[in-house]
This record gives sequence, C-alpha cells and structure tokens, in this order.
Amino acid sequence: MNPVDNPFSPGAGTRPPELAGREDILNSARVTMQRIIAGRHSRSQMLLGLRGVGKTVLLNEIQNIAEEEGLRTAKIEAPENKKFLEKLVPQIRKLVLQIDRAAKVKAQVNEALGALRNFISMFKVKVGDAEISVEPTPGVADSGDLSTDLTDLLVLTAQAAKAAKSAVALLIDEVQYLTSDELSALIVALHEVAQKNLPLTVFGAGLPQLATLATEAKSYAERLFEYPEVGALTKAASAEALREPVEAAGAKWETAALTKVVKITEGYPFFLQEWGFQAWNAAPGRIIPASIIPQVSKAAIARLDKNFFKSRMHRMTQREQDYVCAMAALGPGNHRSGDIAEEMGLSVSAAAPIRGTLINKGMIYSPAHGDTAFTVPMFDAYVRRAILSLEAKAAAKPKAAKKSARKKRG
Ligand SMILES: Nc1ncnc2c1ncn2[C@@H]1O[C@H](COP(=O)(O)OP(=O)(O)O)[C@@H](O)[C@H]1O
Ligand SMILES: [Mg+2]
Repeated sequence: MNPVDNPFSPGAGTRPPELAGREDILNSARVTMQRIIAGRHSRSQMLLGLRGVGKTVLLNEIQNIAEEEGLRTAKIEAPENKKFLEKLVPQIRKLVLQIDRAAKVKAQVNEALGALRNFISMFKVKVGDAEISVEPTPGVADSGDLSTDLTDLLVLTAQAAKAAKSAVALLIDEVQYLTSDELSALIVALHEVAQKNLPLTVFGAGLPQLATLATEAKSYAERLFEYPEVGALTKAASAEALREPVEAAGAKWETAALTKVVKITEGYPFFLQEWGFQAWNAAPGRIIPASIIPQVSKAAIARLDKNFFKSRMHRMTQREQDYVCAMAALGPGNHRSGDIAEEMGLSVSAAAPIRGTLINKGMIYSPAHGDTAFTVPMFDAYVRRAILSLEAKAAAKPKAAKKSARKKRG
C-alpha cells in the first residue's frame, strides 16, 4: 500500500497509532492526578520496563492526562553521563514562573524562586539564560547538601503551587541514569513532599534495575513509589495494535497474517510497529495477506540490524562486545553470570565490571539474582548473525579478516 499513508510509527517515543493494552496504567495515572488536585496523597510511580516497550510513549500520555486534569507539568529526560540537575533545574524554573503570580501567592512564588537561585549557585548548575531577578531566600537550598537543598526546592515549589490552588507533576524519563546521589536526593525530597502532603507527584520511567537502585539509595523507596511493570502486550492487545490502524485506513489484515505477526513479535511494542510498517508497505492491495509475512520479516529484521541493533552494538567497548558475544553464543533466554564468564574464559569477578558497565548502559539487566539477559528481544539472534557474518568474511578472506574476527570475538 502507499507508504505515504502508512499509519505505523516505529521509533523512540513516537506515539503509536493505537496505544493498545495500557488502559490500567493510564486509568491509575488519571486517578493519581485527580487525587493530587483534590489535595489527597497518592504515591509517585516508576514505570519499569525494557527498551522499546512504550515507557516514553506512556509518560507523554500521562503528561497529557495531568494537563487535562489541571496540573502543571514538566518533562525531563535524565541524560546518560551528564548532570541530571542541569535538566531538572530549568524545568522547575519554568514551572515556578508559570504559577499564577496573583498578589495572594506572590510571596510563595518568590520564595521558591529564591530557593532556585540559591540552588543554582550552590550546585553551579548551568541553566542558560536563567537570570532570576529575585533576592535569594536565605537559609533555603543553600546548605550544599544535595538532598537537603533539593528537598527545599521541591517543597517550596509545591507550596507555591498549592498557594495558587494548583499542583505539579514531574515526568522523568530514563531515571536509571541518575547517579546514586541524585537518586537519593530525589527520593528524600519526594518523601518530604509526601509527608507534608503537598501537591507534587513524580511519574518516572526506567529500566528494570531502577527498582533495586532506588531501594539501595534509600530503603524506604519501596514504600514511596509504585512500580507498574510495562511489558510485552497480550495477544489481544497486540492484535488490536496492528488491526485498528489498518482498519481505520480502510484496509484489512488476513487473519492468518495478523496471527503470524503477533507471534513473531511476541507482543513487543516496538517490533509490532516495525512489522506493521513493513507489512503495510509490502501489501499488494487493501488486504495484507499471510503469504507476504516471510518477506515482511526479512525487511523488518534487515532494518533493525542496520539501525537499532547495530547502533546498540556500536555503543559498546570491545570488552563489552566480547561479553555480549559470549552471552549470545549461549543461546536465547537468561544466562547465569558464571556461565557467561566461563564462555569468555574469565573468572566471575573479572567479568563483573564488564557486566556492570553493560547494565549501566542499559544493554543487559538482571531479571533475577545472578541471571543476565538482554534488554531488547531478538538482540541475541542479531549478535549471532553478526558473529556468523564476521566468520564468513574471515573464511572468504583468509589472513587479515580472520585476525579481525578473532579480535572481535576476543
Ligand atoms: N501500547 C502500544 N501499542 C503499540 N505500539 C506501542 C505501544 N507503546 C509503544 N509503542 C511503540 O513502541 C515503540 C517504542 O516506544 P517507546 O515509548 O520509545 O519505548 P521505551 O521508552 O520503553 O523504549 C514506538 O514505536 C511506539 O510507537
Ligand atoms: Mg524511552
């Protein structure tokens, strides 16, 4: 069918044409927002899931819900290897400046701005053109201790919002990239906000290790947050994600074609978009026949190899690549860390730092103690394909390529 009309949207954070199977998470987010606006307590939430399951899409949707319910919102994507504060502070500033500065709340807003000003100079946060034209508020957010000062900042922001009969929702993506100091400070600050019953809530999203990171940072984090799991879609929701957009465009899936794609993608949202996208383009008419699915899979995998998988591989050091090659060589599914180390010819303690940096980069995670798995489905198969193609090249061009294949495999 005409690619111009293709409704599917494979990508990062791109809204799918049909946001299937997430009603529970969205309904619970709406209830949270309504409670916060009504001055009631509701726990902050951290959506946990692997890459490509739709966490960013959900955060964007939750931000829309928060705005519909009348909250002020700010969305922050925590940067990898950079200071979270540099992303957070300008957003807090924007929020505070939006709060109605009617005479009644002016004092509170100025106090929050004063705290912000102290915070910026205390932690030398670069905020671009953020001139803050208020007097610093002495004694708040100026202790130099990140937890204390972030607490002051969020508490005063929430108090200003409350005075203006408003509420604040912070949406934070990629929370696993926060350093342990940043994460602890955020948790301490939210704990204080909750105890004071102030109208500020956080919806975060991150890779599964975030739950452990948060608990390690502050043990009470398990009671402070809810952790909705964002996983693969059920068969019914997967079918809906594929069917709805096609039927809305006046076309149809042959039932067998739809069933096949649901099975191949295992309900993994990013792959549903990718396969839907390729199937639309490959369909000869208004019906997507089952006969074209093998060719669709080939096109989808080729595109994943060239972009998504390859760019992930490129973000790894040689040692990290060796680790994932050893993991892939063990086959699909979870593997014991000990088996991977053995496959590499290393002791578990020698392999542990490599495993650690791969977890930090979001390439692998630990589904259970001592187990290791890839954060992206089908990545193991990609690595095996990549190794095979290196070996094939090595076989064709004896000397130089063989050496490089050996080197690549470690
Ligand atoms: N509920 C859903 N139904 C269908 N497709 C979805 C759904 N959620 C996300 N997607 C698609 O999956 C892909 C990945 O979404 P994204 O939010 O970037 O995932 P994450 O942030 O978890 O890595 C995008 O192409 C998006 O359109
Ligand atoms: Mg994301």
